[in-house]
Amino acid sequence: MAATKSPSDAFRIDSRLRDAGLFLREALRTFRATGSVVPSSPALAAALTHHLVERDDPSAPLTIMEGGAGTGPVSRAIAAHMRPGDTADLVEANPEMAAHLRTLVETDSDFAAVREQIEVHDRLVTEMGTDRRYDLIVSGLPFANFTAEEVREILDYYFTVLRPGGRLSFFGYLYTKEVKAVIAPREDYLRQARSSWVVEEWVNRYGVRTDRVMANFPPAWIHHLRKPRD
Ligand SMILES: C[S@@+](CC[C@H](N)C(=O)[O-])C[C@H]1O[C@@H](n2cnc3c(N)ncnc32)[C@H](O)[C@@H]1O
Repeated sequence: MAATKSPSDAFRIDSRLRDAGLFLREALRTFRATGSVVPSSPALAAALTHHLVERDDPSAPLTIMEGGAGTGPVSRAIAAHMRPGDTADLVEANPEMAAHLRTLVETDSDFAAVREQIEVHDRLVTEMGTDRRYDLIVSGLPFANFTAEEVREILDYYFTVLRPGGRLSFFGYLYTKEVKAVIAPREDYLRQARSSWVVEEWVNRYGVRTDRVMANFPPAWIHHLRKPRD
């Protein structure tokens, strides 16, 4: 028997379509900062929020940052797994997307149970300052579009504000270097190669696990890093 859709399912699909429309419009306008033409899939969002589900200490509340929240697919997964006492800073540099995200947090049913625990910040992650400390950072920033210096600055920042023992999960797209080797101008290929070496350096130092998510466009890798306790 065909499943019938309830009004709340229809509202959810409508809300996700609006997210995707805004994302595509902003991607076409600012591709370097946006890094994709569609928001992350639920499968990628679920894999990125692994450490909210599998907690080191299930009785301790978590302070969470999401860097580059976009139109909020990963924010929705974060909200779904937040518990009383957890707090989340959603950081998004694009003012249109940040405004959209703020409306989602205030009105969308996915955020209803935790909206008082979430704050949206329309700025660069590195503009968040160094007073706050986080147990978990989930990052959607498109490192493949950045210079090696920009990637190093952001990873340094994340590891400054992470607590000892804290975790960073971030993603990128599979095969972009190989595709760029064939179709991109040499300078762009070399820039991406240099920024990916910085990512590799951090993964070699702090990486604890790598996942692949094929159910995303484009398919993605996720690195999970852990800041040492001493
Ligand atoms: C690949 S999109 C990911 C969006 C969303 N997390 C998702 O998974 O669909 C990257 C997002 O990071 C934002 N962004 C890029 N650089 C940023 C920075 N330095 N600080 C904060 N946000 C940034 C972009 O505006 C864009 O929304």
